[in-house]
Amino acid sequence: MRAKLEFGELCAGETVFDLGCGDARVLIMAVEEFGARGVGVEVQQGVAHEAWSNVADHDLDDLVEIRQQDYLETDLSEADLVVLYMTTRTLHAVSDKLKELPKGARIVTHDFPLPQAEWPLSEQSEWTDEEGQRVPLYLYRKG
Ligand SMILES: C[S@@+](CC[C@H](N)C(=O)[O-])C[C@H]1O[C@@H](n2cnc3c(N)ncnc32)[C@H](O)[C@@H]1O
Repeated sequence: MRAKLEFGELCAGETVFDLGCGDARVLIMAVEEFGARGVGVEVQQGVAHEAWSNVADHDLDDLVEIRQQDYLETDLSEADLVVLYMTTRTLHAVSDKLKELPKGARIVTHDFPLPQAEWPLSEQSEWTDEEGQRVPLYLYRKG
């Protein structure tokens, strides 16, 4: 997770969006270890509640916003960095939505790239996950 945020060049004071944020662990790390703000979008009510609860346990309610909604409906205008953990099919579905990002915003995906015709790759890297597997990372910049 840290590798994704580092590869995305996350800086203190920036806002990172996690589309499909799950339990908000990426956002909690972004705030606690990078000094960022976080916005998580999670469609499943039970999972969004888990995210809210985790954020509250870390006393980060002022710095992490959890939106319980479909990420295709969310406002991306405040994003400096978007992190995605999705399959190729889902990345294709979200690819048009990402065009709403402000100029200069970065996107990091892992395992799978965005559709190349719409999103030319800026940089590629890899990290070794908890199970010792090498996982590709892809970085994009909104022009
Ligand atoms: C694989 S988890 C990733 C969790 C987290 N981003 C991470 O990297 O640890 C994917 C999450 O996306 C959520 N999700 C799937 N489709 C979604 C949608 N259309 N809008 C918002 N959340 C969605 C799922 O409910 C799930 O919690």
